[in-house]
Amino acid sequence: MQDKIKDLEAKIEEAQLGGGQKRIDAQHAKGKLTARERIHFLLDEGSFEETGMLVKHRSNFFGLDKQHFLGDGVVTGYGTIDGRLVYVFAQDFTVLGGSLAEAHAEKICKVMDLAMKNGAPVIGLNDSGGARIQEGVVSLGGYADIFYRNTRASGVIPQLSAIMGPCAGGAVYSPALTDFIGMVENTSYMFVTGPNVVKTVTHEEVTSEELGGASAHSTKSGVTHFTYGNEMTLIKGFRKLLSYMPQNCEEEAPALAYEPGDEVRPTLNEIIPENPNQPYDIREVINGTTDEGSFLEVHKDFAPNIVVGFARLAGRSIGIVANQPAYLAGVLDNNSSTKGARFVRFCDSFNIPLLVFEDVPGFLPGTDQEWNAIISNGAKLLYAFSEATVPRITVITRKAYGGAYDVMNSKHIGADLNYAWPSAEIAVMGAKGAAEIIFRKEIKAAEDPEAKLKEKEEEYASIFANPYRAAARGYVDQVIRPDETRQKLIKAFKMLENKVDKLPQKKHGNIPL
Ligand code: HXC
Repeated sequence: MQDKIKDLEAKIEEAQLGGGQKRIDAQHAKGKLTARERIHFLLDEGSFEETGMLVKHRSNFFGLDKQHFLGDGVVTGYGTIDGRLVYVFAQDFTVLGGSLAEAHAEKICKVMDLAMKNGAPVIGLNDSGGARIQEGVVSLGGYADIFYRNTRASGVIPQLSAIMGPCAGGAVYSPALTDFIGMVENTSYMFVTGPNVVKTVTHEEVTSEELGGASAHSTKSGVTHFTYGNEMTLIKGFRKLLSYMPQNCEEEAPALAYEPGDEVRPTLNEIIPENPNQPYDIREVINGTTDEGSFLEVHKDFAPNIVVGFARLAGRSIGIVANQPAYLAGVLDNNSSTKGARFVRFCDSFNIPLLVFEDVPGFLPGTDQEWNAIISNGAKLLYAFSEATVPRITVITRKAYGGAYDVMNSKHIGADLNYAWPSAEIAVMGAKGAAEIIFRKEIKAAEDPEAKLKEKEEEYASIFANPYRAAARGYVDQVIRPDETRQKLIKAFKMLENKVDKLPQKKHGNIPL
C-alpha cells in the first residue's frame, strides 16, 4: 500500500504543476495567477475538492501523443464560499494555452451537471486560447455541450464568469450565456474575431485591448458587468456578488442579521434640487435608503443613465433599478433599457425583490435611437417588469413622464406598491413641451408669445407637476416624506414577503429580443 500511495502522491504532484514550472513562471510574469491559485483564493480555505484531476486527452494528432498533462488544462470541482456550496472550473493556461477540447469540456460539463442536480452556483474562471486546434471538431462539440448546459441552467442556478486571460472565438458564448461576467483590466480580453481577422476583413487596425479588453466591454458593448484592477479584486468581488444571491431558483438569498434603529434618514430630504432641471446623483438616494455600505453596483460603466445593482434592506437582499438624473437627465435609451431589463430578469429568476427609484424625463428621441430599435429595446424593459413576479416597489423621486412612467415599474404593469415623494411630477410630458403643443395657436396669436408660453407652462405645471393627480387615481399608493422612505420600504417588503404571483401557463414568453 505504501508504494501505491507514493505513486498516487506523485501523480497529484504532477497534476499540481499543470504545464510545468516554466509556464507557471510565465503566467506569474504576466501578472496572472494560475488556475489552482485562483481557486484557492476564491473558495473558503481548505474547502476545495477536485474532480477529474487525472483526466487526460485521447488525441494523437499533431504531437499531442507526446503532450499528456494530467487534468487536461482545466481544474474542476466544488467547495464553499462563505460556507455555501459552489461548483467551479478554472482553465489552466499553462497547459496547451488552456485550450478546450473533448476531455477538458467533459470535465466542465460534469461540474455543471452536478451543480444543476444539487442546486448550487457555477463559477467559471476563463483563461484559454479557445478550441484546441489539434483536436479538431471534438473541440467544437465540447463548446456546444457547454453552451447547451449554460442555457439549460439559466434561471435555475446562478452562473458567474470571470475572464482572466484570452477568451476568443466561439468561446465567448459560454460566458455570454451566464448571468454575470467580470473581466480583469489589461490581462483579459473577449472577442469573436481577433485583431488579425478584423484587419483582413474590415482593414481596421485595432489592438486586442481596444477591441475586446475590459474597458471596451464595460463601457462600449456592455458585455461585461464588472471590471477589476487585478485578479484578487475580481475574486473578492465575486465572493461578495454571490452573497446577494440564493443558491438556486427555489431558494431565497441569505439575509444578514439586522438591528433596527436608523430608519429615519433626514439627508434624503436634502437631495432633490429646487430647480427640476438640475441633476443630482441617484446613488445618494440609493445609499441613503439601503443598509449602509450594502450597495453593489452592476454594469457601472455602461449606460450610466440607469443605475442597477444589489443592496440590502434590513439585511435582506434586493435588486435596485434607478434612473440616473446625473447622466443624460436619466432618460431611457437603447442601452439603458436593455441593461435594466437584463437585471430585472436576473432578480426575478432568483427571487430577489425589486426596488425602483424613478426620475425619468422619457425616452431619448432621435434617428440613432429609432434606427437602433428603441421600440424593441424599450419593450424589453416593459416586458421584464411586467413578467416579474417578485415583490416590486417603485419610489418616484421626481419626474415620471410619458411612456417611461408606464415602463418604470408602474402599478399598471404589476408593481405592488408605488410611493411618490412630494417632489414627484407625473405627467405625459414636461410642462414646457406640453404647453407648446396644446396651446400652440394661443401662443402664436399672443402679443408676447414668450410670456404666453410661460403662463401656460406654469398653468400645466401647477396641475400636473405633482404627485397628487396620480395619487387621486390610486396610481400612487402613498405620497411620503423622503426621510421616511427607508422605514416605509422595510415595512412594505416585509408585508410582501410571502407574495405569490404566478404567470399564466405557457411554454415560455417571447420577449422582444
Ligand atoms: C492549441 C494552443 C491554443 C489553441 C494557444 N495554444 N492556443 N494550443 N489550441 N487554441 C498553445 C500555444 O501553442 C502555446 O503552446 C501555448 O498555448 C501558449 O500560447 P502562446 O501563443 O505562447 O501564448 P500567448 O503569446 O500569451 O498568446 C495567447 C493566444 C495565442 C493569443 C491565445 O496562443 C493564440 O492566438 N492562440 C490561438 C487562438 C485561436 O485562434 N484559437 C482558436 C479560436 S477559434 P507552446 O507549446 O508553444 O507553449 C475557437 C472556436 C470555438 O475557439 C468555437 C466554439 C463554438
